[in-house]
Amino acid sequence: MSDNGLTTLRLEPGDNFVLTPPIEALCQRAVAYLDAGYPIHLAGPAGTGKTTLAMHIAALRAKPVMLIYGDEEFGTSDLVGGEKGILSKKLVDNFIHSVLKTEESVRTQWVDNRLTTACKNGCTLVYDEFSRSRPEANNVLLAILEEGVLALPESRFGESYMRVHSDFRARTG
Ligand SMILES: Nc1ncnc2c1ncn2[C@@H]1O[C@H](COP(=O)(O)OP(=O)(O)OP(=O)(O)O)[C@@H](O)[C@H]1O
Ligand SMILES: [Mg+2]
Repeated sequence: MSDNGLTTLRLEPGDNFVLTPPIEALCQRAVAYLDAGYPIHLAGPAGTGKTTLAMHIAALRAKPVMLIYGDEEFGTSDLVGGEKGILSKKLVDNFIHSVLKTEESVRTQWVDNRLTTACKNGCTLVYDEFSRSRPEANNVLLAILEEGVLALPESRFGESYMRVHSDFRARTG
């Protein structure tokens, strides 16, 4: 789904999704915690339905969903964003024809990654297999979850601290 340039997921259960009373009770509990502002961590043996449940809980919140898969190659910039490409601007002003004024500026262009987009727009973040990422890459989540602040590198154009949107919630699996 893409609204105003924001690419997020809108999830719906498939035809073969089974919702037994215990699963439903677990989902309701998880949503209650999320609504109260707590992140949820689903842990358990392989193949027991953590990812499926995380998607279902995210769908119940009816907010845009951002999905990230942990990866040991991840650095902080794979979560928050980084400098990609160069933006060059040239202004040629010849309004008074005997005067030619030119101005040229070049700067690197910052592109937000999924975590920053999720914080900015109040998404429900599903961070699947988050423990596959190295702890130093995931450090940025500490301030997001504890203080509600996303610390961004100084090189980012605009603010270097961003207050996390009040609808932002996180779930890991
Ligand atoms: N409630 C459900 N109804 C129907 N199928 C389900 C349900 N929960 C899980 N499954 C199915 O069980 C399989 C394993 O589920 P899932 O991948 O969510 O488990 P997981 O705990 O995330 O596994 P892993 O530890 O390998 O990441 C998938 O094929 C999924 O479609
Ligand atoms: Mg899984």
